Amino acid sequence: MADKKKKALTGIKPTGNIHLGNIMGAFLPALELTKTYETNYFIADAHSITTVNSGDTLRDLTKQVAASWLALGLDPDNSTFYRQSDILDDFQLSWIFHCITPKGLMNRAHAYKAIVDAAAENGDKDADANVNMGLFSYPILMAADIILYSADVVPVGQDQKQHVEIARDIANKFNKTYGNILTVPQPMIEKSVATLPGLDHRKMSKSYNNIISIFCTDDEMWNQVKKFKTDSSPVGEAKDADEVPLYKLIEVVVPAEVSKALKADMAKGEYSWGSMKELLFESLKTRFEDARSKYVEYEKDANYIEKVLVEGAAKAQDQASALMKQVRQAVGI
Ligand code: TRP
Repeated sequence: MADKKKKALTGIKPTGNIHLGNIMGAFLPALELTKTYETNYFIADAHSITTVNSGDTLRDLTKQVAASWLALGLDPDNSTFYRQSDILDDFQLSWIFHCITPKGLMNRAHAYKAIVDAAAENGDKDADANVNMGLFSYPILMAADIILYSADVVPVGQDQKQHVEIARDIANKFNKTYGNILTVPQPMIEKSVATLPGLDHRKMSKSYNNIISIFCTDDEMWNQVKKFKTDSSPVGEAKDADEVPLYKLIEVVVPAEVSKALKADMAKGEYSWGSMKELLFESLKTRFEDARSKYVEYEKDANYIEKVLVEGAAKAQDQASALMKQVRQAVGI
């Protein structure tokens, strides 16, 4: 009998504005993993309640993430694809984990510390003023998301590595307290996925307002691409392509022979910023033509998306039930 496949699991938070950085850094590598792993991919809607305070908005954002997954090629028959909040066991496990997690572990979580440090820098009297409890204990819910389905590996960006390490600590603590029941997950950090530069050359991120979106109209996409920051060096000045952020972005989107040719042209000074932006724009349109047209269709078809998510939730619940039975037995509830 063939070895049982390992399970990879990851979640994407619906916060709006899915961009090229998310697609190249999270969606596409996750889709690649479906070839070799059993996969659980979910929409982490409950995590978004820490920042999104409108039901209609959150439902809409959830639909956008679901449409993005499907448009980019996720096959719901080949993965377990679901909405986090549909599985109530996740919240029960999260509570159990709350009760064994030392508060100090949360105090050290980067996302929380960043807010507190920023407040201190600002001279705010109460460093915790902008922190709700959901945000504070976010890593505990995330640990439950992972451990409930006995995930072996968790593909995430570098910024989420600490959260997966916290999940490991929690699984180990539980196993030490109650017996060896839980699978201890490993972070999987995709090294080959460089962080993409955004329009201002900082990491492409919604919070920096420097993104390039794919799931929008051509005009909207071009209006972003054309704002990519370039210097005022004249045509004819030779450039080392690897030092040029616009090139780094083009390189991940176009076929290798195109980027090689561009690199050679840049070394000879035979390029212009305008033509590079056009190349990027045209390449994005070609590469994502299929996904963009599917996205438009899925977005219109809320019933289909709902059906896919409900079917996915049934599969996810099946996976969770046996473990939760053992956990409840061990804990005594
Ligand atoms: N915290 C992750 C993010 O902000 C999203 C997430 C929630 C997640 N639960 C998860 C990722 C479980 C991996 C596994 O990107």
